[in-house]
Amino acid sequence: MLTGKRLLVTGVVTTDSIAWAVAERAQLHGAEVILTTHDRVQDLTVAAACALPRRPEILTLDATRRQDYQRLRSDLNGRPLDGALHAIAFAPREALAGDFLAAGDEAIELAFRTSTTSYARLAELLAQTSVGRDSALVGLDFDADGRAWPVYNWMGVCKVALQATMRYVARDLGPRGVRANLVSAGPLLTRAASGIPDFQTLLDAYAAAPLGWDAQDPGPVADTVCFLLSDMGRGVTGEVVHVDGGYHAMAAPGLRAGDGARAR
Ligand SMILES: NC(=O)c1ccc[n+]([C@@H]2O[C@H](COP(=O)([O-])OP(=O)(O)OC[C@H]3O[C@@H](n4cnc5c(N)ncnc54)[C@H](O)[C@@H]3O)[C@@H](O)[C@H]2O)c1
Repeated sequence: MLTGKRLLVTGVVTTDSIAWAVAERAQLHGAEVILTTHDRVQDLTVAAACALPRRPEILTLDATRRQDYQRLRSDLNGRPLDGALHAIAFAPREALAGDFLAAGDEAIELAFRTSTTSYARLAELLAQTSVGRDSALVGLDFDADGRAWPVYNWMGVCKVALQATMRYVARDLGPRGVRANLVSAGPLLTRAASGIPDFQTLLDAYAAAPLGWDAQDPGPVADTVCFLLSDMGRGVTGEVVHVDGGYHAMAAPGLRAGDGARAR
């Protein structure tokens, strides 16, 4: 499915990372995978990379630093990319839970630059390195329908903005052969998730997904990412594909007709 494709995969920090599952499947589907890491997690990324079917090259990208994108481009040394995974998110704790209105500007700004603006920067890099060939960018979303959760706070705002960013990227880079999409994943037990206070509340909610939801299995999400990175997704851009067991499509997850009568 991905034979002959060179893919840049950001966001591998442990073998639980969604990006790790994507890298693994992409390699098994025949892709050459290049990972990125950044100073604070370099050793962890290297350790996780060792568990992949083939040891990938690892380049450096701190998504908040504009100059890193230029350096990454020169590190690629003229090698074109066919696709990239954006699997980057971070927000200081004060922006993730608690009093929404009390979060400081710096925390909100850092969350936005790390988790949202970086999608556009990565898209720019992909366009620059894939001149003359079709390519695809996929990012990872969490229920960005704009609903307020009991937790998640400013990251929820960042994810809604990520959807808008993705659509503008699709508009501007489509004519240059770059597709831009998001996969909206149900909650998965990863390092980033462990930083969300009371993540269990989100997990409990997804127990009502029509297909059920296994928070320990990023496989369904990774498979959909691979599809979007492949030529099979060649007609798809500007799209958010939900991989959440159908949770997003339910108006009142967990409630069944007759529940009210039974309660009386
Ligand atoms: N885990 C979930 O429940 C879930 C659900 C839907 C979407 N997502 C999204 O999936 C993506 C990957 O998260 P994950 O759950 O696999 O967790 P993860 O902790 O494995 O991955 C998050 C990655 O972001 C990277 N990152 C943070 N700051 C960075 C920076 N300044 N520069 C470069 N990289 C940086 C981390 O190094 C890490 O590799 C995120 O966008 C997250 O919001 C996660």
